[in-house]
Amino acid sequence: MRKIPLNECTFGEDEIQAAIAVLRSGHLTMGSQCEAFENRFARELGVRNALFVNSGSSANLLAAFALVNPALQGHCPPGGEVIVPAVTWSTTIWPIVQAGLTPVLVDSDPQTFQMDLQQVKAAIGPKTVGICPVHVLGNAVPMIALQALAKQHDLWLIEDTCEALGTRHAGKDVGTFGDIGTFSFYFSHHITTIEGGMVVTDNDELAELMRCLRAHGWTRQMKGRAAMEAKHPEIDPRFLFVNTGFNLRATEINAAFGLKQIEKLRTFNKTRIRNAEFWNKEFATLIQTGYFRPMQPTEGTESTWFGYPIICKDIELRKQLGAHLEKNGIETRPVICGNLARQPAFKMIPHRIVGALKGADEIMDCGLFWGSHPVMNENDLSYVANTVKGFFKA
Ligand SMILES: Cc1ncc(COP(=O)(O)O)c(C=O)c1O
Repeated sequence: MRKIPLNECTFGEDEIQAAIAVLRSGHLTMGSQCEAFENRFARELGVRNALFVNSGSSANLLAAFALVNPALQGHCPPGGEVIVPAVTWSTTIWPIVQAGLTPVLVDSDPQTFQMDLQQVKAAIGPKTVGICPVHVLGNAVPMIALQALAKQHDLWLIEDTCEALGTRHAGKDVGTFGDIGTFSFYFSHHITTIEGGMVVTDNDELAELMRCLRAHGWTRQMKGRAAMEAKHPEIDPRFLFVNTGFNLRATEINAAFGLKQIEKLRTFNKTRIRNAEFWNKEFATLIQTGYFRPMQPTEGTESTWFGYPIICKDIELRKQLGAHLEKNGIETRPVICGNLARQPAFKMIPHRIVGALKGADEIMDCGLFWGSHPVMNENDLSYVANTVKGFFKA
């Protein structure tokens, strides 16, 4: 039977040779390859600073802990609230909790799958310190309106862009609208470094703080290292610790992969877009009949289709269609974690919910997606289309 996995290897001989060259060089821990990848990534997105870390979750962890760090001007007080969409990946929210902040869950629009801005407005209160938009499945949150809202209320804006590298919105790449943007290079994402992530910011103070928190609270990778050393002549400058921290560093092997993959990003994304456009056309009649509808790109967005998500007209149809696809070798997934407020983990997390989260429930109960990866060929696309149409006998 034909298999259509959610994702397949997007790397080849280029990445393998680059990784082998790093292994042969003997220098494996964060060094010149990582720096080159950070510079290349920053140039691709047109941002001042990019920091390579070992996962997208680590990128979110670093962002959250930077915002509460006393060394940051205007840092967030403990218990401050951060508004997040109910439909996202778990590690958008866990780092907020781990940093001592309170997540406030708002609804997601079941047409676009993105956080609902009316609900964000309703969620803003005296304790709000930040908003964390998440560009779900390659689509984009309406960032111009959200930026204005954050500015009006003087809130930090952290964009979780782990599912949307290269998505263009209002003339820019998503992840570059907020104070911080975070990215994931996990195997199934827009580019891969095996595991890996990136944090970007135009705020040099934040970048410097995150360089310190990324590696033990150590000055070693800080740009302003010399000034710190001059302030503490009594301490061996090679081992000067000026803050708390983690070890979230990626390796030179991951960076070597990333340097090859970033050159392919825009081509990969074109294929993801082609895939979705093909299916949108193929399913036009089924969509019109009301059996299901695909995710709608938000206004001004060229979605990069992390997968091809649909909302079925009811739960029963979602179950039956999902089973039919799986039986025919097409791998499917629920729409990431569904409505996270319904996940058992939330029983032990202090949080606030705004509104009834009906859109998030619809996405969880009636939504599913299959892959739209760049290695799919035209036969794969037709196979998926015919399998779906076969289910409806269309
Ligand atoms: C929205 C979102 N945030 C964060 C992450 C975490 O990224 P990673 O798997 O690289 O830790 C993911 C992973 O898929 C994600 O989808």
